[in-house]
Amino acid sequence: MKIAVDGPAGSGKSTVSKVVAKNLGITYLDSGALYRACAYIGTVTGKDGAELVEAVSHAELEFDTAGKLFLTLNGKTEDISTVIRTPEIAAKVSAVAAMEDIRTLVTDKLRKMASKTSVIMDGRDIGTHVFPDAEYKFFLVASPRERARRRMKDFEAMGFNKTIDDIEAEIIKRDKQDSEREHAPLKKAADALEIDTTNLTIEQVISIITETASN
Ligand code: C5P
Repeated sequence: MKIAVDGPAGSGKSTVSKVVAKNLGITYLDSGALYRACAYIGTVTGKDGAELVEAVSHAELEFDTAGKLFLTLNGKTEDISTVIRTPEIAAKVSAVAAMEDIRTLVTDKLRKMASKTSVIMDGRDIGTHVFPDAEYKFFLVASPRERARRRMKDFEAMGFNKTIDDIEAEIIKRDKQDSEREHAPLKKAADALEIDTTNLTIEQVISIITETASN
């Protein structure tokens, strides 16, 4: 079984998908983490464009069973689960994710990771591009202010102090870049169920998805 959960930044995709995966006994895969990893590889190697594509193609990226992401680059393995969540990476990732060759590498990797198991995968193009045949597709949305509020909590927990206005401006900019790019842009699949999570609790969204996918 494949479940696709797409939507803009901060719409609650990953929080909800992790719990739904547990409820249904399937694997959660965070596609955004792989794009963030590509941006991180660009930061540590100083590479861009075709050189970055080359570096990414030689890198190994693996999730462990707890969902931690490990990067092996030049023979050295590190847990990059936290370093890919910084505001610096958030500001860079959309430009990296807009590169066609990067998208091909990540999409191949995601399909391979999901090939032997049932998954719930969250992202921007899962229902439209990565798994157009997914049995269940959801598209989560929420007001930009509410999404900024959620992101601010994540940043605060990591020790970053940013104003809600700055975060809101950043996510609006990122959504615009993600929606307007040429290759596999952020888009609701025609057959996806749209859920506006602005005034819903996490538990409510989890039950909508769990119940829909259990039927
Ligand atoms: O979901 P998250 O905020 O971690 O995603 C980070 C970025 O990765 C997005 O803003 C987008 O640029 C890119 N992305 C993508 N396609 C996906 C998932 C993420 O382009 N399926």
